[in-house]
Order: sequence, then structure tokens, then C-alpha cells
Amino acid sequence: MRRQLVAGNWKMNCSVGEAVQLATAVRECLGSVVGVDVAVCPSFVALQSVYEVLEDTPVSVGAQDVFYEDAGAYTGAISPLMIEGLCRYAIVGHSERRKWFGEDEQSTSRKVSALRRHGITPILCVGESLEENLAGKTREVLVRQLEGALGGSTPWNEIVVAYEPVWAIGTGKAAEADQVNDTVSEIRGQIGTIWDVDTARDIRILYGGSVTSENVASFVGMSEIDGTLVGGASLRADEFCQIVFQSASMRKKGALD
Ligand code: PGA
Repeated sequence: MRRQLVAGNWKMNCSVGEAVQLATAVRECLGSVVGVDVAVCPSFVALQSVYEVLEDTPVSVGAQDVFYEDAGAYTGAISPLMIEGLCRYAIVGHSERRKWFGEDEQSTSRKVSALRRHGITPILCVGESLEENLAGKTREVLVRQLEGALGGSTPWNEIVVAYEPVWAIGTGKAAEADQVNDTVSEIRGQIGTIWDVDTARDIRILYGGSVTSENVASFVGMSEIDGTLVGGASLRADEFCQIVFQSASMRKKGALD
């Protein structure tokens, strides 16, 4: 049984003080949440402080990116070694990293391997742009991104994949839940081809893109979707907590009592 995960991606928002305030509000509502895994991903400068606020709660901390080397002459980079101990998760391959920072399949793949060596769970983001979607290239893009990030490595069922259609991120236009369910099923099939079917069955695949407390139930009620990666809505503690509570109480379609 795959356990639901709700991860909040705070992106380039919040001073350290604001991040501590937000984490404190999250701790107040989710300090004893059960039945769902929860993580928040602040900026690197706020990781330590947010970790201290959430230590001893069920809410984990994640990074929004990481470099793939442990140490050395890599100005501006943060290594897995530096965040080990603070972070349970690290987002890699986010479309904003791909767009603004030149992240590609090769660097994403190296980041996945580096995180694995350090026992940090990657949240690997994949997803097609609007043009690719309209051109009917969604499947092709996903195959390329998954093959690029996972191909050549041994099966690993700890990794989390997030399907984030680029056109749904930050636009207020979430994808249709049943369509997402079909795409997530294809992603699982592709992981089964790259690795094996048993591993693919165990891997959690999230949806991300304009998730709110209004629409989250439609996604997490779907058989293939194992949680959500939440951007904008994770910056408001009450909204984020609503999303988490709904995810925790959601029954899957077709699930037995
Ligand atoms: P959004 O961002 O929820 O603001 O659309 C999602 C993401 O980029 O992870």
C-alpha cells in the first residue's frame, strides 16, 4: 500500500523569519497528523531553522534542489552532504530548474544518484510544456525525462516521482484529475519498463500544478495518484493543512473498507 505524501514547495519565498513563522503555523496544525506523510521544502538558508521548528513532529523537511558532488570548487552549490541530517527529501528536475538554471536529464540523473548515496529521497519532477502537450508529445517527453533520470541505475522504490505538467504550475489551471490518473499510470508503466513492475508498483507518484484545498480531493481520490506537490498553496499554513487533512482522510476509488 503506497502512503500518501503531501510536499509543500515554498520556492524562492520567505525570509528566514517568515519561514520560521510559516513552519511554526504548520507545526500547530500538523504536529500530530497521522495517516499521511508531509514535508515542507524551504529555501536553503531557512533549512536549518525550519528543521529545528519541525524536529520531533511528523512533518519532514526537504530541499528544493541539490548539487551532485559532495564537496569541492563549485561556487554557489549545496551538496547532499550539507543537507543530510536536515532533509528527508530533495526536489530534483523541477521545471523551473530546467527553465531558469539549465537543468537537464543528465544533471538530474546525477542528482538522483547523489541523493541515493546519502539516503535522501528525491522527488523527481517530470512534465510536459503546453506546446508539447498540444503537439501530442506528452508521452514522448515523459519517457525521455524518466529514462534520462532513472535509466542506467538499479531499481529503487524509495524514489518519489511528481508529475507536473508545466502549463498547470502556478497558473490556477490544474489538470483534470482523470487525465492525470491516466498519465500517472503511463509513468508507472514506463518505470516498470526501465526498472521492473514490482518496483514501479511501490513507487509513489504525486501530482503537482495549482493544487488547492478545493481540488485536492479529486486528485488523491484517484487510484494511481499518491499525493501532491503543492507550490503557491503551501505558503498559507491554513490552506496547506486543509490539503494535508483531506489527503489523510481520502479513500481511494475502489478501495475496500
Ligand atoms: P503550484 O506549484 O502549486 O504553485 O502550481 C507547484 C510546483 O511547482 O511544485
